[in-house]
Amino acid sequence: MPLIPLDGGVVDAAGIRTFALSVQTGTTPFRNGVNTNTLGYNGSLLGPALKLRRGEKTSIRVQNQLDEETTVHWHGLLIPAEVDGGPHQVIAPGAQWKANFTVNNPASTCWFHPHTHGSTGRQVVMGLAGLLIVEDPAQAGSELPGTWGVDDLALVLQDKRFTPLGQIDYALTAGDRLNGYTGDVLLVNGATAPVWQAPRQWVRLRLLNGCNARFLTLRLGNGAPMLQMANESGLLAAAVTRQSITLAPGERAEALVDFSNVASGQDVSLLAATATGGMSMGMGGGTGASEVTAMKCRVSLPRQPGAITQPPSAMASAPAVAASVGATVRTFNLGGGMMSSQFTINGRVFDMGRVDLAVPAKTIEIWKFTNATGMAHPIHVHGVRMSLLARDGAPPPAYEHGLRDTFIVQSMETVTVAVETAEVASPTPLMFHCHILEHEDAGMMGQFITV
Ligand code: C2O
Ligand code: CU
Ligand code: CU
Repeated sequence: MPLIPLDGGVVDAAGIRTFALSVQTGTTPFRNGVNTNTLGYNGSLLGPALKLRRGEKTSIRVQNQLDEETTVHWHGLLIPAEVDGGPHQVIAPGAQWKANFTVNNPASTCWFHPHTHGSTGRQVVMGLAGLLIVEDPAQAGSELPGTWGVDDLALVLQDKRFTPLGQIDYALTAGDRLNGYTGDVLLVNGATAPVWQAPRQWVRLRLLNGCNARFLTLRLGNGAPMLQMANESGLLAAAVTRQSITLAPGERAEALVDFSNVASGQDVSLLAATATGGMSMGMGGGTGASEVTAMKCRVSLPRQPGAITQPPSAMASAPAVAASVGATVRTFNLGGGMMSSQFTINGRVFDMGRVDLAVPAKTIEIWKFTNATGMAHPIHVHGVRMSLLARDGAPPPAYEHGLRDTFIVQSMETVTVAVETAEVASPTPLMFHCHILEHEDAGMMGQFITV
């Protein structure tokens, strides 16, 4: 099983934790005897997991070795708009770009990927995606499994489609333009149905739906529950027992699973049912729900010394954003899609030169997203602290509590969120968009500045 390499960076003479990323081309042998052209950060495919610590001055140097433009967006990080890595922070071929910031997130699993307007979908499918593991010294986390690759396993789930010659096929069909790109192979950390040698104990799975468009519903093949202890922006106040976890593109979750009573040598599969826009669609391109084995945990290793014997009953979660009565309310109408592949927000398609909103800095507002289309859209907002207030007026389930950066808006649903803007105003636009990357590339995105 390929593990995502953990990169702790280097603290320089000035006390700044520094990382270096090289955006490069390479080849990956997805199939025997075929070298598939791919892109990666510091390697041929995907990238490292950069370990960040809250409160630390951090500097990430990016070298673009590609012969095309790219950007590196730190999805989920609460950092100034100037270093967010969105479509305005283009890195020319051969050029270098530096993101300097102080980490301000609670403990969480975030990620990074290109945000090059019009080519985000292709660059991600070609392999550009990495992880950001944020630790917060102020949050007690020691009771959670935390030995990388041993009892703390990061899983990047992505689907891909290949040409008959084994190259990545990103020729979009009319269906891809409407529903988003789908592949017929589900990869975990770049491998098909890999096998992980797991210890007989509680383990922590960090799950990223890194697909362009597929929604994934994950469950364990032995019917055992997963204890969801974090959503994409941090720990929940208490773990929630789930039979399955659905993640839209861009969303993350962390779950504790118990292998203590699994017979040694036994496999526990992680199964994934796949869908687009909330509508099930087979991996083979057919219709109807289909479930595939994403990976297998072969419970073959002994319990690690110091492993927890019980999941924690409560966790040091990050406080949610609460809106006060009288807060400014903004509405966002998600539209389009009928017979056309044009999706809009408030009737408009993204325009790099148009700022859609100016929002006061250091303010909490209420944003309402109403989905008037026939499919679900995962909405993501850059650079804000955000919490779900309601789904169609009803309080969200416990696993949707806490801080969020991406959330599903079902067809015909209204999702209300509390949004807390950055402390310092900035004229550099931040994005809000659908995380189905073909919708984003086609303009289901808007931008706001803080004033
Ligand atoms: Cu994960 Cu605006 O992106
Ligand atoms: Cu983002
Ligand atoms: Cu969408």
